[in-house]
Amino acid sequence: MSKKILVTGGTGFIGSHTCCLLLEEGYELVVIDDFSNSSPEVVSKIKEITKRDFKFYEGDVKDKALLRKIFKTEKIDAVIHFAGYKAVGESVKEPLKYYRNNLDTTLSLLEVMEEFQCKKFVFSSSATVYGSPKSLPIKEDFPLSTTNPYGTTKLIIEGILKDLYQADPTWSVAILRYFNPIGAHPSGLLGENPNGIPNNLMPYIVKVATKELEILNVFGDDYDTKDGTGVRDYIHVMDLAMGHVKAIEKVFKENKLDCYNLGTGEGYSVLEIVQAFEKANHIQVPYRIVERRSGDIAACYADPTYAYEELGFKAEKGIEEMCRDAYHYIEVSKQENK
Ligand code: WQD
Repeated sequence: MSKKILVTGGTGFIGSHTCCLLLEEGYELVVIDDFSNSSPEVVSKIKEITKRDFKFYEGDVKDKALLRKIFKTEKIDAVIHFAGYKAVGESVKEPLKYYRNNLDTTLSLLEVMEEFQCKKFVFSSSATVYGSPKSLPIKEDFPLSTTNPYGTTKLIIEGILKDLYQADPTWSVAILRYFNPIGAHPSGLLGENPNGIPNNLMPYIVKVATKELEILNVFGDDYDTKDGTGVRDYIHVMDLAMGHVKAIEKVFKENKLDCYNLGTGEGYSVLEIVQAFEKANHIQVPYRIVERRSGDIAACYADPTYAYEELGFKAEKGIEEMCRDAYHYIEVSKQENK
């Protein structure tokens, strides 16, 4: 009998790619999403890619009556919790919206899980909980500090999970700290295409490449890095999805709570990303250097050793494949919308 996983936020960028791999690994899926940061067509795209079916519930994870209905109807064995707001800049402007949503969704979910004695939980956290790291590469036991409400919601939830596990060690919890997810499903049917002006580097580069935006603004070239521009650990979203499959295997195998960095261990600067994108897609990306973006740190990349030792997770895809897949997704989307 295959195990049944509830995926909250399963039509989002990382959630949808993870759903594809879980289905292909033979898991049964139940997905809940309110489409606040995705679209209903993603449900059919996941089914088209995997040729597998799954249950979908449209709704808000804060809605405990809906959660109870799902747990009553479906025998859920474990939960992967993606649902939450994730824009750093927006969280600074609207902190209450972020605290209310990201904390209420998680608390409602954990309370209903406890009612139904479902205690295997994979949480979507972020490397942003490390703040400005004291050294590099970043290990899981580094000090934690945050500089924006989005990151603070992640840190608070990590604390809630640690207290929950302390009180009841029959829980199995994997806290996954993502570095910078980019790229798209190789089919081009799933990917990242935020509406309006993207905050993140790769979606912005893609919009410049398609001439939807005129030029890339590089936020500062006076950092203490290889070429003065910001360095980050970019990880292909398909590798990140595989990290969740490994984490689900872990929570079924052991009753523990642990944190894992999901990164490649490689740091690339903004200019290196631009060059890799141009080389991978044979396209120019015009850019200009502008002032630093407030809140940015100079460099951030993972020590991926612990995730490899404990989960058997290792990112496989290189930066050019990330750039190629990110652009291919937009080309396919444009073809579909013709
Ligand atoms: C990457 C680099 C910018 C845009 C954020 C969140 C983090 C996670 C991933 C949720 C930096 C530079 C960017 C642009 C630029 N999200 N840049 N021009 O800030 O590392 O991480 O997204 O979990 O929590 O903090 O990602 O893509 O915004 O920036 O020069 O138009 O690209 O300065 O050096 P970031 P990013």
